[in-house]
Amino acid sequence: IGASVTLTCSVQTVLILSPSWLIPGTSVILNCKVQHPSVGWKFFWYKTVPKVSGNYSYELLPGSTSGTEQDSYIIHGQTHTAGYACRAGKGDPVYYTEYSEPKFVWSGVTSTASLSLTVNPDTVQHFHNDFVLLSCGENSSERRLSRYSEDGFLEHCCRWGTKNGSTRNVHGIRYGTVVYWCESGSAFSNAVNITGQDDDDGIILVSPVHPVTEGDSVILGCKLRTENVLSDVLFYKNDRLIQSDARGELSIPAVSKTDEGLYKCQYSGKESPQIKVILFFCLRLR
Ligand SMILES: *[C@@H]1O[C@H](CO)[C@@H](O)[C@H](O)[C@H]1NC(C)=O
Ligand SMILES: *[C@@H]1O[C@H](CO)[C@@H](O)[C@H](O)[C@H]1NC(C)=O
Ligand SMILES: *[C@@H]1O[C@H](CO)[C@@H](O)[C@H](O)[C@H]1NC(C)=O
Repeated sequence: IGASVTLTCSVQTVLILSPSWLIPGTSVILNCKVQHPSVGWKFFWYKTVPKVSGNYSYELLPGSTSGTEQDSYIIHGQTHTAGYACRAGKGDPVYYTEYSEPKFVWSGVTSTASLSLTVNPDTVQHFHNDFVLLSCGENSSERRLSRYSEDGFLEHCCRWGTKNGSTRNVHGIRYGTVVYWCESGSAFSNAVNITGQDDDDGIILVSPVHPVTEGDSVILGCKLRTENVLSDVLFYKNDRLIQSDARGELSIPAVSKTDEGLYKCQYSGKESPQIKVILFFCLRLR
């Protein structure tokens, strides 16, 4: 008895992008890997454009109309969150591989004042299952919330959480770090890290999700699952104790470059189970 088998031949590509978070003044490097490497591939590079009705459309990047010989592409002067994809092609007429999954370079700084992601309560770390309101600003069906988890999973709102209008999302926090941002028909907003703490008896550092600008004032706090800790918190910067008095908050009245570092808090003899990370960007935007 014969069985008929249909073979579909589609070649996958994988885009590797670094760094994931923009470092102002540095370039973004894209690298395209073909699933079955062989000679003769040319590489095509794309910017992803959000489609509110679906996933993304792809716009060729400059200089790649007829493909590049190199499997890498450098983007200079990137200043805000963006998505990229690649595919390879060979032959005449050109046989193209599948588009790669999109990859993103994130910036904590908003590129357009009108499209910005806000987080309430405004802190990077939360306890697992806490509820957080993520908002893309004005209530418009032209905007969506997107997220990318540590395991490389990209989702658009609202396949999770409770949808309240089209741009707000009450979200139960998961373990690990998830990056969130907003997308409109053509633009990407600032991106934020949200980290879920899995130890219900632990403590978290309360620190703002947005990068702070030089000269801003910042207040760091310490929180138990059920309440803010109001006194006798120890604050560490780069593992060095920097405040150990009756206060419950660490206040930095005017942030400068020297305040950059890794912060964490301790309370009641219990050290927080993870190192608490906060990065201060010292960008002069004007
Ligand atoms: C978006 O992409 C996902 C995963 O690749 C796919 O399952 C889904 O069908 C796509 N949605 C649309 C509307 O194209
Ligand atoms: C998010 O986390 C990554 C990895 O820890 C870090 O490099 C990046 O600066 C963070 N972004 C913001 C806006 O805090
Ligand atoms: C957003 O718009 C939707 C539908 O247009 C409406 O039902 C909802 O109440 C609005 N939400 C807010 C917060 O304005």
